[in-house]
Amino acid sequence: MNPADISSWISDAQKAFSAASDLDQLKIARLAHTGDKAPISLASRTLGSLSPDEKASAGKLIGDAKSEIAQALAAATEKLEAERDAKVLLEEVVDITLPVQRSHRGGLHPISIIKNEISDFFIEQGFAVEEGPELESGWLNFDALNIPADHPARTMQDTFFIEPLDSGVVLRTHTSPVQIRTMLTQEPPIYVICPGRTFRADELDATHSPVFHQVEGLVIDKGITMAHLKGTLDNFARHMFGPDVTTRLRPSFFPFTEPSAEVDIFFNGRWIEWGGCGMVNPKVLATCGIDTDVYSGFAFGMGLERTLMVRHGITDMHDIVEGDLRFTRQFGVGL
Ligand code: FA5
Ligand code: MG
Repeated sequence: MNPADISSWISDAQKAFSAASDLDQLKIARLAHTGDKAPISLASRTLGSLSPDEKASAGKLIGDAKSEIAQALAAATEKLEAERDAKVLLEEVVDITLPVQRSHRGGLHPISIIKNEISDFFIEQGFAVEEGPELESGWLNFDALNIPADHPARTMQDTFFIEPLDSGVVLRTHTSPVQIRTMLTQEPPIYVICPGRTFRADELDATHSPVFHQVEGLVIDKGITMAHLKGTLDNFARHMFGPDVTTRLRPSFFPFTEPSAEVDIFFNGRWIEWGGCGMVNPKVLATCGIDTDVYSGFAFGMGLERTLMVRHGITDMHDIVEGDLRFTRQFGVGL
């Protein structure tokens, strides 16, 4: 066993390890210089055939060589691992200042938000929320409300009739039939609001939609007067439009209220019609089996789109019905 050979194996291994530019290359060098077929390993295996004296000196030479090679390997491994770690840190770096791709939470449509807001406001005062069907009987939508077959109001409210035309079923043109449903099934005192979807054969334009929403209010109790109606509307208006809003009742006509009025609000420097109202017509109370000597009541009905548009300065109904998220998101998620 030639010491010169052994030291060349050591320097070959050292060179190979330091030439490796990454851990994969180092692995190949390691197998070549320390593996079963490496010269040092082959030499190691011949030790057994030597005489005891030779074995002692050759064994020491080979042992020293192996540990030198092992040291060189350990040094190269440490260096290449450090380089790999540094590279990974750079390559996999996360820039936490980059703008994120956010997925938006779902949210309620502003009409639903305002409907919930109105419901909460009235529930706090002890009102119940009643809802009726969108497909309504003509009797409840018109006749029970004192709107007879030949009454102009019936053509005024351009109605969607459900085929066959003698089905007696319409898409409700207002939320007032829910008044009737409530009075037919509940004993006074009655304090309800009825929000819901309504339908009229109107063209979609800046201020009208064939599908829109109303909220109806109905109070039936002993001694109810127009003063209660005005007070309720004032409170409601202040809640919706702020403490400085002024309301005004303007004489009007609805077959189901007597007297009837339009309620206007003075908002942002002008008078705006907000909805209809009045004292429930005794004929309607009688139709519903309510004793008109004991009870009286008031009712009102507002458009929700109108309320939303006035409050938020929305000038085009299309924004409300088209469902563009850039519009609806401005109102928050409402959850
Ligand atoms: C009524 O519908 C009555 N039922 C209201 C009422 C209730 C009066 C209780 C008295 C007692 P009117 O047809 O005026 O009334 O409609 C009320 C509101 O609905 C209107 O002020 C308006 O804001 C809204 N509205 C009516 N038609 C449309 C439409 N095509 N698009 C959007 N909003 C509408
Ligand atoms: Mg009107």
